[in-house]
Amino acid sequence: MLGVTGSIACYKAVDLASKLTQAGAEVDVILTEGARQFITPLTFRSVTGRPSYDDMWSLADHVKHVGLGETADLFVIAPATAHTLAKLAHGLADNLLTVTALAARCPILIAPAMDGGMYEHPATQANVATLCERGVQFAGPAEGRMASGLTGLGRMVEPGDLLAHIRQMLAKDGPLAGRKVVVSTGPTREPLDPVRFISNRSTGKQGLAVAQAALDAGAEVTVVHGPIVEPVPFGATAVSVQTTEEMGDAVLAAAKGADALFMVAAVADFRPNAQSGQKIKKTDEQWGRAIGLEVTLDILSAVKERRDKSGYPRVVLGFAAETHNAFEYGRDKLLRKGLNFIAVNDVMDEDAGFEVDTNKVLLLSSAGVVEEIPLQSKTAVAERLVHHVAKSLNGN
Ligand code: CTP
Repeated sequence: MLGVTGSIACYKAVDLASKLTQAGAEVDVILTEGARQFITPLTFRSVTGRPSYDDMWSLADHVKHVGLGETADLFVIAPATAHTLAKLAHGLADNLLTVTALAARCPILIAPAMDGGMYEHPATQANVATLCERGVQFAGPAEGRMASGLTGLGRMVEPGDLLAHIRQMLAKDGPLAGRKVVVSTGPTREPLDPVRFISNRSTGKQGLAVAQAALDAGAEVTVVHGPIVEPVPFGATAVSVQTTEEMGDAVLAAAKGADALFMVAAVADFRPNAQSGQKIKKTDEQWGRAIGLEVTLDILSAVKERRDKSGYPRVVLGFAAETHNAFEYGRDKLLRKGLNFIAVNDVMDEDAGFEVDTNKVLLLSSAGVVEEIPLQSKTAVAERLVHHVAKSLNGN
């Protein structure tokens, strides 16, 4: 549930409602009279596809607030003005939003927005402290330029950051709550000289989707990544590496005591057997003819060696990018690398694998096919993979 109060930051609430809806949430919106001066219920209905309410509610349904307060998983109030903060702190209930806040039994998250030093005023600070004591959570406000032209603390946090905060709050009791998860993603790069390298087409999207799904399931997540095109999800610890050797060291360090490792990275299998400290000149044909490739460290084999002694990570899922004989090669890798699961994808399928937002995966365990995950978004594929790993960790 999203409560919106009268601030120019209302436009950010529309973006937030849209992002939440796209992420699969059912968002009911309550606008105060002040918010209605900036924006209409129809705007929210148009992005959420669900009801949005204002203070005309009482004409239609006299206990609306109780129903909304009882069914919501989370009540987000964004933007929240200084006036609404004061009302919430003192238990005033003079509109649908504040009445619902009193009736709500779910956690409350507030994103304040106010100008002119109002946030720092002792009265507002006292109200914030009262609400914090009652377990209400706050996101922001952020520092920056405000509508008045002043710069200071009072801007509503950006919708993307707020979405990440919301995801974290909702994940608290998820199937991976309290679990430590490591995800490797992206390509690795093996340098030839300071400006050239050997790499592959991986963008890191599938691994980042797995990291987000693990966060959504409540896990503490570390992402070990090569050069990737999108940011690591909010809430995860990011470890940036370049070469296979660096990735191996980072994965082994992060996997110490971990519950699960998702080895999604497209690791470079070969590296030049010599590197030049200076840029190779085009005229140096001799160098070009002399350069050869050597095999890099197999990270999963190193993980297996450690795991055989320590028992960690408890569950390991590998990926196999194949162009043919997907089942046979996948099964062979699963056994050779001592994995619990292997997610095999046919990279010849143009809608699956590298550089696209969709994937199609055959998930295998030593017992055989676990699930044929049909072509869908990498986000949806990641959720299935996380589901199976959580199930295996939780012994059901
Ligand atoms: N992998 C690894 N270390 C490497 C290469 C790959 O840990 N040096 C991991 C990948 O992250 C993936 C799994 O091993 O989870 C399978 O990767 P893939 O490239 O399909 O298999 P390879 O073992 O490299 O075998 P091949 O390239 O011959 O198919």
